[in-house]
Amino acid sequence: MSQHQLSDLSDEGLRAFVGEQLERSRRRTARLADAVDTDDLIKQHSKLMSPLIWDYAHIGNQEELWLVRDVGGREPLRQDIDELYDAFMHPRADRPTLPLLGPVETRAYVEEVRDKVLDVLDHVKFDGGRELVDNGFAFGMIVQHEQQHDETMLATHQLRRGVPVLDAPPPPAGRRLAAPEVLVPGGVLEMGTSVEPWALDNERPAHAVRVAPYVIDTVPVSNGDYLQFVTGGGYQDPQWWSEAGWAQVQKASLTGPRFWEFVDGEWWQLRFGKREQLPLDEPVMHVCFYEAEAYAKWAGKRLPTEEEWEFAARFDPATGRTRRFPWGDESPGPQHANLGQRHLGPAPVGAYPAGASPLGVEQLIGDLWEWTSSDFSPYPGFRAFPYDEYSLVFFGPEYKILRGGSFATDEVVARSTFRNWDYPIRRQIFAGFRCARDPRPEELRA
Ligand SMILES: [Fe+2]
Repeated sequence: MSQHQLSDLSDEGLRAFVGEQLERSRRRTARLADAVDTDDLIKQHSKLMSPLIWDYAHIGNQEELWLVRDVGGREPLRQDIDELYDAFMHPRADRPTLPLLGPVETRAYVEEVRDKVLDVLDHVKFDGGRELVDNGFAFGMIVQHEQQHDETMLATHQLRRGVPVLDAPPPPAGRRLAAPEVLVPGGVLEMGTSVEPWALDNERPAHAVRVAPYVIDTVPVSNGDYLQFVTGGGYQDPQWWSEAGWAQVQKASLTGPRFWEFVDGEWWQLRFGKREQLPLDEPVMHVCFYEAEAYAKWAGKRLPTEEEWEFAARFDPATGRTRRFPWGDESPGPQHANLGQRHLGPAPVGAYPAGASPLGVEQLIGDLWEWTSSDFSPYPGFRAFPYDEYSLVFFGPEYKILRGGSFATDEVVARSTFRNWDYPIRRQIFAGFRCARDPRPEELRA
């Protein structure tokens, strides 16, 4: 069963599906919190991030607000703490100074909320005429919220210093690709969705976009490719950078991707507390939008637009139809994409031939978020739901769109219509990129 078929389920089937998703998300959250000692749980590992314990209680608080109080119509459990865990009231940098719940209280609180939620789930009428509850949407939204915070907590783990505490098997091996680029003929794509029951407001509605022919990289840019830009003086030469990008290079003293180190004549990367030799065939990660943009210019290319990214991921030239995922309509399996923290990093390029789109573009879903050149803007016909603070207040040129999900993104989130957004200077997120370019006239004649 996957989320696009939820409307085919009986109420009992839907209840069981929601219950499984809630349980699965909580296991992951608890694992991320339990992996560290109390000190690491409550301290701030970077000004960019909340203490892990804040995320943990915030997950429970959002669940209480939406599922216990709103959907369930029950009495508040802890109205007194709402303000502490309101992301809009307190920037991340200030959160450690708040009188937050301690680890024991936090665990007791989220458990108590969850008990109430399971009772609400037992009694909820999915067809009671409330849009918020249709196909279990509010539950789906809260599951996705928890999984997205789990990805954030994993990013905090990456910023934490100290001995490694996380483990996972390595991803599948990469392979040599037949062609580094794919010529996309262009056409009309049905972008976004009006039918995925748990899609969020900014993915809606489905709408037609015309995309001109373009060329896109088969896989994300690798560490090996990016290293040539670094050692070739890319960070010392303003000609590759936008004005804002060059200002950021100076301001933040950027010299290469975050977590790269050059020691004793060799390149290393730090990952979840382990230092390893830089894997040249892995996609480059922890670069900001400006670095992605500068590399693309240096390579004689550019970043794809969001429309081009989605066209490459979903368009089937044989039928003109838009697919749910690059490989078809079935939900992601381990053979398709590197998702859900199954591995602790992106897989080498070429590792997922079974995840290729009909056009032959690979690793679009999973591994790492991909920066696009697009600003975060509403689709035609956008309607804020269920509240303005999910998307509406963020639309504008200060945020850039990232697509595709990372190794840390759960499959309940990683729809190929899912839109992530962040500031162009951000590097702690699990993000990389692939390049695109306009086709040369002789390529179009061929
Ligand atoms: Fe949140």
